[in-house]
Amino acid sequence: MVLFGASGDLAKRLLVPALYNLACDGLLPKRFALVGVAMDELTTEQFRERMSRDIRQFSTRHQFDEDVWRDLEARLHYTAGRFDDAATFTRLGSIVATIDAEREVGGNVLYYLAVPPPLFGVISAQLARAGQTTADRGWRRVIVEKPFGHDLPSAMALSRELLTHWREEQIYRIDHYLGKETVQNLLAFRFSSGIFEPLWTRHHVDHLQITVAESVGVEGRGHYYEGAGVLRDMIQNHMLQMLAYLCMEPPSSFKPEAIRNEKAKVLEAVRIMRPEDVLASTVRGQYGPGKRVDGTDAVGYRQEPDVDPRSGTETFAALKVFIDNWRWAGVPIYLRSGKALWRRGTEILVQFKKAPEVLFRDTPAVEHLEANQLIFHIQPDEEIELRFQAKRPGPEMSLQKVNMRFDYRETFTASRATGYEVLLHQCMQGDTMLFSRTDLVELAWRIAQPILDAWAASPPGNFPNYPAGSWGPKAAFDLIERDGRTWLEAVNRGVIETVPLFQACDAIFQHNIAMVLKPEVVDAGDFVIRKGDVGHKMYFLVRGEVEVLDGDGRIINTLGPGSFFGETALILAAPRTASIRGRQRCDLFVLDREDFNRVLRDHPQFAQSILEASRARYQVTVSAEQAFDRQVTAMLGPPPVEA
Ligand code: BG6
Repeated sequence: MVLFGASGDLAKRLLVPALYNLACDGLLPKRFALVGVAMDELTTEQFRERMSRDIRQFSTRHQFDEDVWRDLEARLHYTAGRFDDAATFTRLGSIVATIDAEREVGGNVLYYLAVPPPLFGVISAQLARAGQTTADRGWRRVIVEKPFGHDLPSAMALSRELLTHWREEQIYRIDHYLGKETVQNLLAFRFSSGIFEPLWTRHHVDHLQITVAESVGVEGRGHYYEGAGVLRDMIQNHMLQMLAYLCMEPPSSFKPEAIRNEKAKVLEAVRIMRPEDVLASTVRGQYGPGKRVDGTDAVGYRQEPDVDPRSGTETFAALKVFIDNWRWAGVPIYLRSGKALWRRGTEILVQFKKAPEVLFRDTPAVEHLEANQLIFHIQPDEEIELRFQAKRPGPEMSLQKVNMRFDYRETFTASRATGYEVLLHQCMQGDTMLFSRTDLVELAWRIAQPILDAWAASPPGNFPNYPAGSWGPKAAFDLIERDGRTWLEAVNRGVIETVPLFQACDAIFQHNIAMVLKPEVVDAGDFVIRKGDVGHKMYFLVRGEVEVLDGDGRIINTLGPGSFFGETALILAAPRTASIRGRQRCDLFVLDREDFNRVLRDHPQFAQSILEASRARYQVTVSAEQAFDRQVTAMLGPPPVEA
């Protein structure tokens, strides 16, 4: 393997750890050797030392196996040189020939281009000139890192350029999302089970969602990111690949071409947006200064190194797309990705249509009837979850949302992988299934291009429009809520514990509350609650500040992160006693009345804390009997003495 860009980040963080994992698992060919090429003036010895240091930081194994590493280390070589210098390639040719002879490699060479895209053509041309893209014996293959092109014309030009030096079957375009076990499992799940596949159509599916949320910002990659943005960086490649797996027709076999053909067909059917569709069906955002999840200050995108202080690059995007084919016609697919968000998580949601309510019409359950959700937790949780409803124990027919989960960690013992193991392994085997073909890359650009064009034609006037560490731009919530739907937020216990009121609660409570809380964003000046309205929701303020206004519009209080409000109207089923308005942009969790009542019934200690806080805040004289049903009251015990 010849690794161009061997002194870079990708090599030390992912590629060498992936080779090490393959070696540990006995999947690295015995005759394998690596030649690193980069501009840094290093000797082979120094390169080995560097990699030996880095592997200890970036290895993903539970235990580090010194023997395996020492064996692999001895197979690492390095040569320094410029990529536009023919001498580099002459030298490389002779190093490769020597290793080939010594190790009896049989002429097989895998070139890995872990370099910026403008160098793909330069290196390929040099290799071709030096006669290294073809061989009398063995194979020659090239792995190309992303981004593949900057837009449709440049991707097509790059393909043409690569195809002058390589044949299509020699080119392996990496999309590291396809190396993720949970992504590959989408195909295994869909096509190995008889239950879901028949339901995988517009007749049964209400809508689909794919979210890729990142909590990190651009992390020193400002220069690259300025010219990219999230649409190019995540959506055009990783997310459309996942979409293709999720929505494609069953292939005729698991042969690479059969799968790639089906992916091409489904991407071809994605509706191309007109400029007016882009306006109506997309949202873009850019993060401003804010706070990281750990509470430390985070700079805004425009303050990141190598970023224009007036940059219009989007670090967040949400889209609604359609696939115009027989299976998916009319089913909206919501895609969303962003940097510097409140959490890291990739999830895919398949939301089925609601069951008819007729049966439950005269029972309390009718209010709680919700659609089934199948959720693929791609990362960092690696799970598949099915949400449905169960009858709550008791004499009444009342329902509660429950779930079944399959967790990789509970079933498989394999060490965490980098995702590159399978890609490197398959490329060495000549299996192209996980790599993109020229037409697939171009089809994905065809989908993204009109959005890029429409965005370029109307630069955003409101950037930055979400603080680092927040839920993301409000407009993204509006986009989906306009359709009467909500984003699925994978609220896990870690997130729940950031809300003070929930911290001391037990695990069952935290689990149940996580399934029913919904995130909402409010801008400065927006009313969350208006005095006199009948309340159906209570709110937990996670980020930002709200002000409490009396009937004359005077500010009587302000509330900050960790506080909650809106509960009295729910407790007393009375109109709101004050108005609440965003003082800054706020991120909130919302709890609906029905969920509130259910949670209270099961968790009297939560009811008690809400009641106490409410009494203290509004000086309302409310007894537990007034507030809660008999079951809860009985559990709460005698009311405390009123102040
Ligand atoms: C890369 C993008 O392709 O994927 C990065 O260039 C992004 O900006 C990364 O952070 C996300 O990958 P993962 O595997 O951490 O989800």
